[in-house]
Parts: sequence; structure tokens; C-alpha cells
Amino acid sequence: MRILFTGGSGKAGRHAVAYLLDKGHRVLNVDQTPLDHPGVDNRIADITNAGQMFDVIASYAGFDELEPGTGVPRFDAVVHFAAIPRLLLTADNECYRINTLGTYNVIDAAVKLGVRKIIFASSETTYGVCFADGERKPDYLPIDEEHPVVPEDSYAMSKVVNEVTARSFQRRSGFDIYGIRINNVIEPHEYVQNFPAYIAEPSQRRRNIFAYIDARDLGHMVDQCLVTDGLGFQIFNASNDDHSVGLSSAELIDRYYQGVPVRQIGERQTFYSNEKAKKMLGFNPRYNWRMYLDDNGAVK
Ligand SMILES: NC(=O)c1ccc[n+]([C@@H]2O[C@H](COP(=O)([O-])OP(=O)(O)OC[C@H]3O[C@@H](n4cnc5c(N)ncnc54)[C@H](O)[C@@H]3O)[C@@H](O)[C@H]2O)c1
Repeated sequence: MRILFTGGSGKAGRHAVAYLLDKGHRVLNVDQTPLDHPGVDNRIADITNAGQMFDVIASYAGFDELEPGTGVPRFDAVVHFAAIPRLLLTADNECYRINTLGTYNVIDAAVKLGVRKIIFASSETTYGVCFADGERKPDYLPIDEEHPVVPEDSYAMSKVVNEVTARSFQRRSGFDIYGIRINNVIEPHEYVQNFPAYIAEPSQRRRNIFAYIDARDLGHMVDQCLVTDGLGFQIFNASNDDHSVGLSSAELIDRYYQGVPVRQIGERQTFYSNEKAKKMLGFNPRYNWRMYLDDNGAVK
């Protein structure tokens, strides 16, 4: 597929882009900084500028596309990751402005230019646990896509708004627009770097509901969204199958979730349900921290 990817230079994007290239897709990365990766075309543009988004989505991906003499090909898909990726990086209202306006511009241009598959990055923070003032417990476990989304911070608010925006564009266009509520993205080097501390002190992972998503498995998730057609508007949680700490589900429930209704859960099964993505997309995560560390957090 010919894919326009926004935010491909970032932490999550660069792994997803690499995965998509490996799968044989062509990728034009639209970002404010280029991604130095073989096979990636880059375009510097600002998602908050509507004119620039219309321009890049109606653009050649690279010089080779001038050769056939048949004009600009249409993108098969837009994957939109560019954003201010959390609170406390910018002023709150600036985070909200860039994320909501940027997402409106990207989806608006994609739909009006006839791109029939749009995937966008939403977030675990929509559930209101991650960036709460103090401790907020989930309404129930595991958290699936039906769990209420009532966050209190401007970043998560922007992601809830983006989901509403996307749903409205899907209703008018009938195109496939899927949002991925991404859990905490873990790059390969972070297992050895960060997980020993998580295993030693599990409370560090409470705000992520003890979950995580391997960046390469997120790439696989994006690819499954690209190749699975006809689902209309959908939201999918993205997480790995297990917890990011060494405690069992029963131990975590006892320590952190007393009084929270718990539906059926396996001994090490994530509290951030990925069942919907497995059923509807064929999502099948391959990586986990136990490939790098033993149960006590020692490097293998
Ligand atoms: N990292 C996580 O754990 C996590 C978790 C949940 C959701 N997400 C979401 O996934 C997406 C990617 O996150 P990330 O961790 O890779 O963030 P990142 O900050 O590493 O990457 C974001 C990219 O977007 C680009 N960008 C920012 N503003 C832009 C603008 N106005 N125009 C064009 N490009 C712009 C940046 O240059 C950067 O390369 C974001 O939408 C984020 O909200 C990330």
C-alpha cells in the first residue's frame, strides 16, 4: 500500500514505519523532523496547517513517482500519529490545540481527497486513570473499549475529542477510520533499561494499569488495521498480552484494585484488554519482557 504516515519520526512512529516498510508498503513520513531510515520518504509539514495537510496528501511521495507521467497517485491509507504525546510538555491549551486541530486537518484532508483508510493514534489516557490528579481506579477490569472515557487533563481530552471527530468523518464518508488506544509504548532497549525497576517497584506501573505495548507489536497492529477492511469506525485497545511487572493478576488485584469488579482474567493476563483487536484484526503480539529478563528482573 502507498501510505502517508504523520509523526513517523517519533518514538512509536519510527518502529511502526520500519514494520510497514518490512511488510512491503511504501511510506511517506510527514513530520516536523525527518526520519533517517532507508526507504522512507520525508516531508516536513505541520499538521495544524490545513493547507499543508491538503498539499502533502495530494502529493508525490518521491521523485520516482514523476516517471510514469500519469500524475499523482492517491494514497491508499493515512496513518496519523503526529501529536504532542502527553501532558506537561507544552501549555495545556497548546497540547489541546495542536492535537485536536491537527487531527481534524489530517482526517478532513484525507477524506476529501478520497483516502478510504485512516488509522489514528488515540491513547490509554482516555480512560482517565493515567493522568488523574491522585489515584483513580478503573470502573472494572479488564478495561475494554466500552469502559467510560472521562479524563481530566488536556492531552487525554484532546484524544477523546479526536475520536469524536473521526467518528463524524466516518459517518459522512463511509470510509474505514480506526483509532488505536495505545498503551505505554516500549522500545526494544527499554526492557533491559526500565523493566528491572518496574519489577522491583510495581506501583510505578499503576497509572498504565500495569500494561504496555511493544513498539514492534504496535507496528503489527497498524498493519492489521491497514489490511482489515470494511469495519467502518472502530476503536481498538493496543497492549501486549501480559502485565509489565512480575506480580500475578491476583496479587495485583489484591494490592491495587480492592473493590474493583473484575471479570474473567488469566494469571498473567493484561488488565488492558486486547481481545477486540485479536478478534476483529487478527492482532497477535509477539514480544514481551520475559524474552529479555527473568522473573526477578535480571537480564537473561
Ligand atoms: N508513547 C506512548 O507511550 C504513547 C501512548 C499512547 C498514545 N501515544 C500516541 O502515539 C502517537 C505517537 O507518540 P510518540 O510517543 O511517538 O510521540 P513522539 O513525540 O515521540 O512523536 C510525535 C511526532 O509527532 C511530530 N509532531 C508533533 N507536532 C507536530 C506537528 N504540529 N506537525 C507535524 N508533526 C508533529 C513530532 O515531531 C514527533 O516526531 C501520539 O499521537 C501519541 O499521543 C503514545
